[in-house]
Amino acid sequence: MVNDYNAIAPIYTFLSKLVFFGCIQKSQEEFLSLLPVKGKVLFMGGGGGNTLKIITQKYPLLHIDYIDQSEKMISLSRKRLINEPNHHVNFIVGNENNIPDTNYDVIMTFFYLDLFSPKNLDLIHKTLNNTLSVNGLWLISDFNQAKKWWQKAIELMMFSFLKITTGIESNSISAIRESYFEPGFRKKGLTYFYGKYIFAAAYQKV
Ligand SMILES: C[S@@+](CC[C@H](N)C(=O)[O-])C[C@H]1O[C@@H](n2cnc3c(N)ncnc32)[C@H](O)[C@@H]1O
Repeated sequence: MVNDYNAIAPIYTFLSKLVFFGCIQKSQEEFLSLLPVKGKVLFMGGGGGNTLKIITQKYPLLHIDYIDQSEKMISLSRKRLINEPNHHVNFIVGNENNIPDTNYDVIMTFFYLDLFSPKNLDLIHKTLNNTLSVNGLWLISDFNQAKKWWQKAIELMMFSFLKITTGIESNSISAIRESYFEPGFRKKGLTYFYGKYIFAAAYQKV
């Protein structure tokens, strides 16, 4: 299986904090204040559940379909919510083929779209976009294309590590934000982290 995060699920958060000084997490929290109080959320590739826990605490009425293809990541996420029995989270071990047939008010993709090759990214973006209602919100955090030497060095290290441990499908970071969100969406916010190598953005479908 490609993009198999099972092996590194227990150390993923620790490693990302170590290398990116907490910016992976900070970027995901940047635009949570834009979430509606009620509604349906599709959260793709959410990982071990750090952000999920924050959302369920702040927005207990949201109905969230939380899809991750790693059963280890889903199991960690379930444990994170153990003290919140009233949450409305539907955990799904799966991928974009397992998205429930519904229209969402919000889509969240944090460090998820960067996993895919350009050809699959086109398909996945279309698939997700088709499930988002007009005026729906899409929160995304991810890497920008490496421009500086140190960003290129980090990208090389990151992909070498992820090729071996997860079989990551993509070979480099593509221009996700510019290519997929600048047309067809209204920008509600954009913040950079980690010397502009990481971004958090909020887009509203028009
Ligand atoms: C780089 S991690 C990001 C985790 C989390 N969003 C974060 O930023 O901390 C990518 C996550 O996407 C999941 N994943 C990979 N391919 C997937 C797919 N096709 N559908 C759903 N989840 C997938 C992995 O299991 C992993 O949990």
